[in-house]
Amino acid sequence: MNEKIPNTITGRTRIYGILADPIYHVKTPQVMAEVFRRHGLDAVLIPFHVKPARLGSLISGLSAMENFGGFITTVPHKSAMLDLCDDVTDEARHIGAVNCVRREADGRMIGTMLDGLGFVIALTNLTGFNPRGKAAYVAGAGGAACAMAFALADAGVRRLTIANRTPDKAQALAARLRHVHPELELSTDAGSVADHDLVVNGTSLGMNPEDRPPLDFSMLSPDQVVADAIMDPVMTPLLKAAEAKGCRIQRGLPMLQCQIELMARHMGAIE
Ligand SMILES: NC(=O)c1ccc[n+]([C@@H]2O[C@H](COP(=O)([O-])OP(=O)(O)OC[C@H]3O[C@@H](n4cnc5c(N)ncnc54)[C@H](OP(=O)(O)O)[C@@H]3O)[C@@H](O)[C@H]2O)c1
Repeated sequence: MNEKIPNTITGRTRIYGILADPIYHVKTPQVMAEVFRRHGLDAVLIPFHVKPARLGSLISGLSAMENFGGFITTVPHKSAMLDLCDDVTDEARHIGAVNCVRREADGRMIGTMLDGLGFVIALTNLTGFNPRGKAAYVAGAGGAACAMAFALADAGVRRLTIANRTPDKAQALAARLRHVHPELELSTDAGSVADHDLVVNGTSLGMNPEDRPPLDFSMLSPDQVVADAIMDPVMTPLLKAAEAKGCRIQRGLPMLQCQIELMARHMGAIE
């Protein structure tokens, strides 16, 4: 325990939050407490259980709270937060979702989206994979897939394939990517797994034992890096199949862990 930090909340403690519905499963309060401790901060991040219909009222209240520094948002509030913030970063605007908000001294709420950046940092740090100039296959076109696709494009991939059960959503994501990154080669050909340096699962397929595979595992080859956004189970069927083929793999949890310091920084808790 860092001696500089009181082990109780006092009148000086700075408050941060995480907003979700449900809330019981979130791990961020414990993980952020470790960051605050490491940086010697008198701060606490507490869980706020809020239903979508009352989200706007809560944000107004938090805006009035002078000792409040900001909050993290997760399911189901990420998209709705886009319109509830006073301003958002380009990342959040492009992805269409917010997962971290800073409360400015005047009460304004500034949102950003760090899922994708967390993914790329984890991927680079833990597998040594550098996306620049590479070809990446992303299964899914929901929140996680969208964030990872934009972050990979920002990190310089040359070619990106978006494969999704609902083709319209894959096409729509490809169109948004094309608008921001006109130089990027884009495809929605789900059958082209073999033709990529990086293969990513951004769908929720693999969370339940009865799920069908998110992509054709037989097309994986040992030279590919394979990543999954799913955190539970730690080893998804995709990661097991990839490891058995001799691929370098990237689990889901580091994507979240790599965001924690970025979130603390966006909320102004650390420099
Ligand atoms: N590691 C991290 O930091 C992190 C961060 C965010 C999310 N995640 C994880 O990423 C996963 C996806 O989350 P999300 O927020 O992106 O969810 P989401 O927005 O609801 O998107 C779900 C995606 O999965 C696809 N899908 C769902 N059921 C399917 C089925 N039966 N067959 C084929 N495709 C199916 C959907 O396809 P359709 O478009 O066709 O419905 C969509 O592409 C979750 O496991 C989540 O926990 C991890």
